[in-house]
Amino acid sequence: MLDVGCGTGSTTLAVARLLGANGRCIGIDISDPMIAVARARAERESAPASFIRANAQNHVFEPASFDMIFSRFGVMFFDDFVRAFANLRRAAKDGAELTFVAWRSPAENPFMTTAERAAAPHLPNIPARRPNAPGQFAFADQRRVYRILEESGWAEIDIRPIDVACTLPEKQLVPYLTRLGPLGLILHEADDRTRTQVTETVRAGFDPFVHGAIVRFTAACWMVGARAPSTLTAPKEAASALRGGVSGMRRSDGTGATAVTDIWAVAQKWLLGISPPDWSGGSAG
Ligand SMILES: C[S@@+](CC[C@H](N)C(=O)[O-])C[C@H]1O[C@@H](n2cnc3c(N)ncnc32)[C@H](O)[C@@H]1O
Repeated sequence: MLDVGCGTGSTTLAVARLLGANGRCIGIDISDPMIAVARARAERESAPASFIRANAQNHVFEPASFDMIFSRFGVMFFDDFVRAFANLRRAAKDGAELTFVAWRSPAENPFMTTAERAAAPHLPNIPARRPNAPGQFAFADQRRVYRILEESGWAEIDIRPIDVACTLPEKQLVPYLTRLGPLGLILHEADDRTRTQVTETVRAGFDPFVHGAIVRFTAACWMVGARAPSTLTAPKEAASALRGGVSGMRRSDGTGATAVTDIWAVAQKWLLGISPPDWSGGSAG
């Protein structure tokens, strides 16, 4: 199993625990500090997981070596998506599953963009989010995600919306919104007075999400699945021949369907179980 953009290894370790001694679980992430934490966690837990510090877009994986490739919010940061997913396709065995969770649009995820909108009057230099640019919302457009996967040699592509009710303690809200995302980057360099002023304004912008000691919001995501077809010679044609509908159900032959259903159930559990600070997009975001 390969976990792409594994961060500090939460999902890699969750899958490693699930597979036990029979599994081989590898996490890859571009960030040194993230991988250092992931390795330390694996060592503490004596988990059967290992970690690679590299760019998943061009890292030379052992060809055809993974039965499943998965990612929780870790595949939206490549600068060449087709190249990256073709690289992952080469790393996958024929018939292997790809499954990942990615954000839908900023409009459907107002919690994620409240900070920058509230701060804009104070900080007009906050970089605007460019549609389709690598980053948190790069996969907002379902058809684009479909095309990227198709062009990079994946088949049986299935993209479905999921909405997950999330909470976090109110006392974590300010640390969350001042450290992460575009605002976090700018506040990091701001003087104390600006930081205090902006933090107050931005915190007030989150009032609609605050219910006493709890912050509530909905994470609007895509749950994406695909399969590595059994030929590498003509990826686009192979993908077209094998694909299902964008939002259709996967596979009618039944083979492997259980595995996918299981992994989706597990993936949804991960999504429910994580805390927003994990979702920053890292430095690459
Ligand atoms: C939003 S975080 C998700 C982390 C983890 N999957 C989780 O759910 O906790 C995105 C991760 O992708 C990593 N990342 C970004 N670009 C990458 C690349 N080209 N190759 C590998 N990892 C990358 C970042 O360093 C970051 O850890």
